[in-house]
Amino acid sequence: MTRQVTVRSPAKVNLCLGVGPVRADGYHPLATVYQAIGLIDEITVRPAAETTLRVVGDGVDVSAVPTDASNLVLRAARLLAERHSVDLGVEITLHKRIPVAGGLAGGSTDAAATLVACDELWSTGTSLDDMLGLAGELGSDVPFCLVGGTAAGSGRGERVTAIPTQGGYWWVLALDDRGLSTPAVYGEFDRMHADAPAPEPRIPDALTAALRAGDVKRLGEALANDLQPAALRFRPDLESLLGRGLDAGAHGALISGSGPTCLFLAESEEHAVEIRDRLAPAAPRLLCAPAPVAGARVVR
Ligand code: C5P
Repeated sequence: MTRQVTVRSPAKVNLCLGVGPVRADGYHPLATVYQAIGLIDEITVRPAAETTLRVVGDGVDVSAVPTDASNLVLRAARLLAERHSVDLGVEITLHKRIPVAGGLAGGSTDAAATLVACDELWSTGTSLDDMLGLAGELGSDVPFCLVGGTAAGSGRGERVTAIPTQGGYWWVLALDDRGLSTPAVYGEFDRMHADAPAPEPRIPDALTAALRAGDVKRLGEALANDLQPAALRFRPDLESLLGRGLDAGAHGALISGSGPTCLFLAESEEHAVEIRDRLAPAAPRLLCAPAPVAGARVVR
């Protein structure tokens, strides 16, 4: 029997995040392009009598992460066990590098990693389609975290299709200790569109064309996030940081998902390091990450 399984799973950014008017179920229709980046959490699972979760922060504050049944990691383990009528406990250790409530799908990617890790530990052999279905039940971003790479997202974000891309990119991330609540940012988006409902969202052609061509300059110009104005209402200070990133030579700058992480697009590692060094006086926690990278994968 397998004694221990470790899975690495990436943070995501949204290259575009088109948001439509709120649906009857409280979710918003999305037209988004996700990209998985080289900022990675690690989950290790071992057989145990009881299912437990221990969270270890690796450069991030994990004091706000719940370790009770509400945690998405524990919900993922229970959901997979239920679906296969598995009556086994699992001891889960999560090494967190992705900031909590940063707009980087940190919780979602940990849930995706848990599905992959427990499926291996329990030899449940879940098909990719079933994994994507379970992932979608756990959260809108979880299916993408399984798939990784660069992918279009529709529905509430849970329907993902890989999109053709060429070459690679680097992102500079300005991390923030003060997380933003995703529902609060969507709520602000609704208030901002109370008089003029948002149009049905679509992925800009210029963005897919830039990805297909591997053209970093055109990609930078096509980056877009409909949640950014709402996120900036909570954090108006970030507007000047985005401007500074462009002044520092980034090909594009935007807020990641519902924020508050700020993203700056670079063409190479060297370019990313240059932008990071120029931004250092304005932002205390910066890091560089390559993209695209794979989704949640077992470490062999
Ligand atoms: O799907 P997930 O549980 O990650 O979503 C968290 C919250 O984000 C939802 O409760 C909802 O408030 C908001 N959301 C939304 N529309 C989406 C995705 C998320 O309003 N497409």
